[in-house]
Amino acid sequence: MSAIKVLGIESSCDECSAAVVLHDAGSMAVLGQSTYSQTGIHEPYGGVVPEIASRNHLETINHMIAGALSRANLRPEEVDVLAVTNRPGLVGALLVGVSAAKAMAYALGKPLVPVHHLEGHIAGVFLENKTAAAAPYPMLIAVISGGHTNTYVSHGPPELWPLDFLRKSLVGRSRDDAAGEAFDKSGKTLGLAYPAGRLIDAMAREGNAGAFAFPRALPQKDVLDFSFSGLKTAVALTAQKLRESGTLQNHMLDLCASIQEAIVDSLLAKIYLAARTRKCRSLAVVGGVAANSRMRNRLMDEWSRQGFEIPPLFPAPEYCTDNAAMIAAAGGIRFLQGQGLSGRALLELGAMANPEV
Ligand code: KG4
Ligand code: ZN
Repeated sequence: MSAIKVLGIESSCDECSAAVVLHDAGSMAVLGQSTYSQTGIHEPYGGVVPEIASRNHLETINHMIAGALSRANLRPEEVDVLAVTNRPGLVGALLVGVSAAKAMAYALGKPLVPVHHLEGHIAGVFLENKTAAAAPYPMLIAVISGGHTNTYVSHGPPELWPLDFLRKSLVGRSRDDAAGEAFDKSGKTLGLAYPAGRLIDAMAREGNAGAFAFPRALPQKDVLDFSFSGLKTAVALTAQKLRESGTLQNHMLDLCASIQEAIVDSLLAKIYLAARTRKCRSLAVVGGVAANSRMRNRLMDEWSRQGFEIPPLFPAPEYCTDNAAMIAAAGGIRFLQGQGLSGRALLELGAMANPEV
């Protein structure tokens, strides 16, 4: 099949994004992307307020679509396929993207591909990345975001994935909080602005990671799952004691470094364990927490000792946190497998907050 241009739309949480990706003979190039992050709007509440998120998506989405098309220098009718995140996420927020994509696809007479948000995150690693396209398999894939901490083993490139890839290939998951949530909730306890992951990453550079001994959960060698709720509680208790003694502010940098080290240690221990037991030859790390500099540096230092044949694969930083290019990437791959909807099926497409797959 000749090259296809896919317009992707993402509105599952607090980023409203549209992007056009050109799929051409197995390579994927971003022609234009436009993203509006609502984090500043939710910050005073210490977390995403679903109703505010969906109202804001409604006001923003048409501008993002127009912006992505204009950056790609395309008219709407020059797009071949539309792709939209329809699961999982905040249902009201998802519905805004799904409704916009349905209306546009129906009016233009173009097919629409529903995309699982996590497949999007994973596809992001293959965007404009020749090393990823030639990676050896099996590949361990870690999706580490604000909502998920999951590991998967993939035996071939996404073009070959069955529709139930995410369900069939899952090898580990968080039993409670996601890693991004651990960053954000610990940050909230320390009085840092939401979402705190990026700020903790920056402050940790000036702190001593050995200053506070926070727990690394589930040390058993036969457990591939993650757990972060114990860390959250330990941070809350430590912060309370320091606050009572009036010394919390003096320890902020050391606290950030120690929290980050506990999260990164826990993540890497289980990633390496899963890779070893499943004989993985390569590693991809995706999702918002994949932007963490300490984790990236450690993975870059340690990969050959862990038995991987190539350095770890990460999406470019702009494709780690939520974005529509990754959705257009995953949507194009699924379209080429025959997953485009049209007619009645297109009009009946819904959003799912918490699908099984
Ligand atoms: O993938 P994402 O944008 O949204 C979800 O699908 O959840 O991930 C957002 C998460 C937040 O928890 C945020 O604090 C975290 O990614 N994050 C980071 C960094 N940048 C974003 N965590 C640690 N270090 C970072 N540099
Ligand atoms: Zn995400």
